[in-house]
Amino acid sequence: MAANWKMNKTVREAQEYTAALLPRAADAEGVEVAVFAPFTCLSEVARMAEDSPIIAGAQNLYFEDSGAFTGEVSVPMLQDVGVGAAIVGHSERRELFCEDDDVVARKAARVVEARILPVICVGETKEEREASPDGMWEKVSGQVRRVMEELDNPGGGSLVFAYEPIWAIGTGETATPEDAQDAIGRIRDLLKEIGGDDFAEGVRILYGGSVKPDNVGEIMAQRDVDGALVGGASLELESFAQLVEAAQRTVRSDG
Ligand code: PGA
Repeated sequence: MAANWKMNKTVREAQEYTAALLPRAADAEGVEVAVFAPFTCLSEVARMAEDSPIIAGAQNLYFEDSGAFTGEVSVPMLQDVGVGAAIVGHSERRELFCEDDDVVARKAARVVEARILPVICVGETKEEREASPDGMWEKVSGQVRRVMEELDNPGGGSLVFAYEPIWAIGTGETATPEDAQDAIGRIRDLLKEIGGDDFAEGVRILYGGSVKPDNVGEIMAQRDVDGALVGGASLELESFAQLVEAAQRTVRSDG
């Protein structure tokens, strides 16, 4: 269960949230919890989460290690403060900051090489979905393929994909559980085709887009959905803690 705070929270707010989340995450056996914090409070979240089940994650990174790249943060800098995961290619980065598939693929490769867990985001706009009978898949399969081309035989467990239909992000419009399963099941099938069954079963695939405590159960119940990447509903500690608890119920019911 992944919280994406986006451009929210001061250091003090991040400290209070993390302190309150730590015992709730510790109780959620079998659920991996990640908090993707802004750079300004990331080292603090990572310090507080050290030796805990919470993974401190970055929302972005640059694929070069150092140099004249004003405003960017590199993978060694993230490693220096104990970051364990990074979002790569979030649709807001792709749309608002012009990140194309090549840049996203290079970022993913650098993160995997550093043994940081990438959360690679893919997804289509409403226009793309409606442009042709299989508009969703034309876009999403191309995004997944481009990332996979750049990776050098990764283990399935070293990768996380997040299917986030852009029309469902921050809009309150959630994809139906069947839409989520359809896209995520097809991503899994494509990964099988590329890397074989064991590889594809090891990859965790999340759904993202207006996930909330009252819809997470039916989304998580879908066969291929391994978790959720949550923006708006992760900002309040109580609502994110409820999502973590809902994920744990799914883990229990799966045996
Ligand atoms: P949302 O954002 O939960 O606010 O829709 C999800 C995301 O962008 O990761």
